Amino acid sequence: MRRLSSSRRLAESSASKRANHGMMTAITDTFTEDHHRCDRLLAAAEASAGGSDWAAIGAAAAALSAAMECHFTLEEDIVFPALAQVFFVAENPIEIMCSEHAQMRQLLADLGEVVGARDKSGFLGILETLHFLVQQHNYKEEGIIYPMADGALPQRAAEMAAMVTDG
Ligand SMILES: [Fe+2]
Ligand SMILES: [Fe+2]
Repeated sequence: MRRLSSSRRLAESSASKRANHGMMTAITDTFTEDHHRCDRLLAAAEASAGGSDWAAIGAAAAALSAAMECHFTLEEDIVFPALAQVFFVAENPIEIMCSEHAQMRQLLADLGEVVGARDKSGFLGILETLHFLVQQHNYKEEGIIYPMADGALPQRAAEMAAMVTDG
């Protein structure tokens, strides 16, 4: 793995700050990092199905479900309502994000069922669909919704970011 010297890292980080015109990016940064945490749990669930230890597969699925549910709840209960209140044009994209959460929640519920039935191909099929939906969804949040929230909620961004890291 390539290692950056600390001066190089400093230069890159100040360049990225300049690119953001000094704008707050706390929501984008922390929620994007939480997406990556969920991605790793999804990959771990996939990997767990390489064996036939259904207790381990079930635990990996439960960890993924819990992390995603926690993430969706923070968005739906904290970030989205605050954003919709100050930025009316966000209402439509937020509605789309919430309907995608509902689709992904259904897949996570289905995942629990196939674990109960010890159906490995069903398990992998659901994860594949989930992976696809998550990628599409996160791309929109990271590119549109989170930067919008950082811009519209500068006073609350740090507090919201702290909720992710504490959670
Ligand atoms: Fe979301
Ligand atoms: Fe998200």
